[in-house]
Amino acid sequence: MNLTAAMPNVIETKNVSLVYKTESREVTALQDIHLEIKEGSFVCVLGPSGCGKTSLLRILAGFQQPTSGEVLLDGKAMSPKPDKSRGVVFQQHTLFPWLTVEKNVEFGLKMRKVPERERKQTVDRYLEMVGLSQFKKTAPYELSGGMKQRASIARVLANDPRIVLMDEPFGALDAFTKEQMQENVRQIWIKTNKTFFLITHDVDEALLLGTHIIVMSPRPGRIIREFDSRLTYEIQEGQSRAYRMNKQILEKREEILNLITH
Ligand SMILES: Nc1ncnc2c1ncn2[C@@H]1O[C@H](COP(=O)(O)OP(=O)(O)O)[C@@H](O)[C@H]1O
Ligand SMILES: [Mg+2]
Repeated sequence: MNLTAAMPNVIETKNVSLVYKTESREVTALQDIHLEIKEGSFVCVLGPSGCGKTSLLRILAGFQQPTSGEVLLDGKAMSPKPDKSRGVVFQQHTLFPWLTVEKNVEFGLKMRKVPERERKQTVDRYLEMVGLSQFKKTAPYELSGGMKQRASIARVLANDPRIVLMDEPFGALDAFTKEQMQENVRQIWIKTNKTFFLITHDVDEALLLGTHIIVMSPRPGRIIREFDSRLTYEIQEGQSRAYRMNKQILEKREEILNLITH
């Protein structure tokens, strides 16, 4: 069923919990999170606002330490700091406004002193992949919202991460652009064979993209349901053109919405 089931874990979490302590109170944001993110999979995490999705992503990215539990990257304890092995795309782009699109994508490569020729090849490859070859010399402020997100994705991919972590990356986009971005990201996932981890509160988005879908409960965030899905492959293979109206999808959507709202 699941094409990545036999693959090794890129990231694994064991018993991860997170408690935020403020002066007046303690907030348990995450409770006992067990995750296995398989190489090459597209994991989508769904949950209501405030259930700890961003907190979980921040832990996987190395921005935040869990209060207890373990996080493994390629089977070894993960270094508790962000690094290029985990690329992050946020809801709001984080491009440097003073650099062109091309220089933004090149930035990480330059920091690592990758030779110029290789830098140019890598930048060209990923700008083409996200459809921004014509906008190399453009400044971020001149780009539309969707284009900024595509530039951010190219910048992350240029660093050749083990996993691409995305926190509601299309949340601020209009419906049409969002749909295009979902297609675009599926193509990128197929072409690069990378592992993707995407957080969303949009049930359809998770169903249209994920090979593995995780549903979280309201706070304290726990995993309440996990399942594999083949729909994204089927859409890719052109077998599921009417997928938005597909009976199975409608049922799955109902089931998830019930889980989230009750
Ligand atoms: N730095 C923080 N200090 C205290 N509480 C926080 C902090 N960050 C998030 N929280 C709380 O933790 C819970 C989970 O937040 P978050 O991970 O942002 O959820 P989501 O991304 O699912 O909306 C929320 O109740 C939020 O208010
Ligand atoms: Mg969030």
